[in-house]
Amino acid sequence: PLVSMKEMLEKAKAEGYAVGQFNLNNLEFTQAILQAAEEEQSPVILGVSEGAARYMGGFFTVVQIVEGLMADYDVTVPVAIHLDHGSSFEKCVEAMYAGFTSVMIDGSHHPLEENIALTKKVVDVAHTIGVSVEAELGRIGGQEDDLVVEDADAAYAIPSECDQLVRETGVDCFAPALGSVHGPYKGEPNLGFDRMEEVAKLTGVPLVLHGGTGIPTHDIKKAISLGTAKINVNTENQISSAKTVREVLAAKPNEYDPRKYLGPARDAIKETVIGKMREFGSSNKA
Ligand code: G3H
Ligand code: ZN
Repeated sequence: PLVSMKEMLEKAKAEGYAVGQFNLNNLEFTQAILQAAEEEQSPVILGVSEGAARYMGGFFTVVQIVEGLMADYDVTVPVAIHLDHGSSFEKCVEAMYAGFTSVMIDGSHHPLEENIALTKKVVDVAHTIGVSVEAELGRIGGQEDDLVVEDADAAYAIPSECDQLVRETGVDCFAPALGSVHGPYKGEPNLGFDRMEEVAKLTGVPLVLHGGTGIPTHDIKKAISLGTAKINVNTENQISSAKTVREVLAAKPNEYDPRKYLGPARDAIKETVIGKMREFGSSNKA
């Protein structure tokens, strides 16, 4: 069923695993992620950036595709459709109106008080209709679609500010920027685990780790042990899908049927997602 993230993340935190947010880019990503979730009997969060929604047609299209596939595939595991890095109150409301069950309002580029006011406004609407909300503090570096944060502007979240934001807004989960980046890492990631532990203790809510691509397993396990219950992955699926398309077209230069190269790409995404679900410990937790 389509659900919000609230229960799935609280269960994950209590039982010591993390639910993956896997981003949608097109039909094949959506198919692959839902197939992986059902096969693994894992809860799943479908992340949708504003750019990806635009590419796929819009928020309504995304919801219709997900609902159609869930019916055709007889999906029984909990699935959330989540707006990733929502840029404004209006975008969050648009997504909810189209049927998203969860939204992130990314006010991280605003000063604290403004971020709190904006996040609170979104929470007030979302909670009235059972939609869950994620907020961010500090700045996650790297690039995701329209969102570009230069290295110099990336900033670690401050625990006391995180506590204030969560307390004053009532968000369901929270993403403190602690050194993770969107896209591939330059060298090893350097995550702020001490602060992660402090933020988890202060706020009490499930924490979210953005930039899941390229984080070594021992860091993933450590983050989960410190209260991270949601891990976002996009680039890794994009890489495995692009690699497969390149291989198929290189081996068969005369191929033109999209099903012949996007089908294998879909299988590659599915395998990548299954690997993540096992690593995050969410398999058989539906
Ligand atoms: O919000 C989405 C993610 O944080 C994805 O990060 O593309 O580095 O895996 P990634
Ligand atoms: Zn992100």
